[in-house]
Amino acid sequence: MNRFQEPEARRIIADLELPPGSRGLDVGCGIGLYGLWLAEAVGGAGHVIGMEPQAERVDAARALVSGEPAGERLELRVGDGTAIPLPDRSVDWVWCGDVLHHIVETERAIREFLRVVRPGGRIIVKESQVLSALFLPGHPELERHIQLAEIRRTLDEGGGRSFQERRQTTLASLRAAGLAEMELRSYLLERRAPLRPADHGFIQHTVFTRNWGERIRDLLTAEDWTKRSALCEANSKDNVLLSPDYFCLYPITLFVARVPG
Ligand SMILES: C[S@@+](CC[C@H](N)C(=O)[O-])C[C@H]1O[C@@H](n2cnc3c(N)ncnc32)[C@H](O)[C@@H]1O
Repeated sequence: MNRFQEPEARRIIADLELPPGSRGLDVGCGIGLYGLWLAEAVGGAGHVIGMEPQAERVDAARALVSGEPAGERLELRVGDGTAIPLPDRSVDWVWCGDVLHHIVETERAIREFLRVVRPGGRIIVKESQVLSALFLPGHPELERHIQLAEIRRTLDEGGGRSFQERRQTTLASLRAAGLAEMELRSYLLERRAPLRPADHGFIQHTVFTRNWGERIRDLLTAEDWTKRSALCEANSKDNVLLSPDYFCLYPITLFVARVPG
């Protein structure tokens, strides 16, 4: 994640009204951007632990937050969401952003969230693209084929259930873990030309080149691949991001569960 989501992320976090001075855990914090914004939200007396299994991401997060005032209250650690190295009832809230669909042992992870959050605290699971985003305005059929290819590709990575399916069953997973008081909040990001560098970078590199690159080629027809290449390759004269009428729509959903008090 780069700063593509930053304007809405700040609003999403503000809407949560995290108690000033509260202690939270960011599971799968990646390079730490959300962790930093969460640490800003809890104020000077608050504390956030950012936990991430990939050591190189933890190092990147340390580099990113060093020198930031809120970075001092963001503690970064290597750790896994299915075996959280924290005592029972030791945090007021858990934030898990765009991570739960990656964890095949979903129930085990949610049980861990429940264990570490104090009674009355919150478990906040954020998932982008519970609804598919729109990145290719004017090309609905091609984009639908690409979405289907992504669903098929992530079946392998999601233990036989695609990322999309796993995101869409988050509420059911929380309920299966015994959580009953749950809220759903969705936000829609809109971006239009001219794009900010962070938006252009995310769409070109993360979406078009990485997610829609070679990894899905064998799941598209040759005709769709040719069309996708004309519209999405960075050096194509027909790259959609060159259009003055380019726009994208990108949904983010929060599943907020209250731990019984
Ligand atoms: C799409 S990134 C999201 C990163 C960050 N939360 C953000 O919003 O920018 C998914 C992250 O989940 C992490 N992850 C994968 N499996 C995990 C697990 N079992 N426990 C904790 N994090 C995990 C990955 O290492 C990766 O950093």
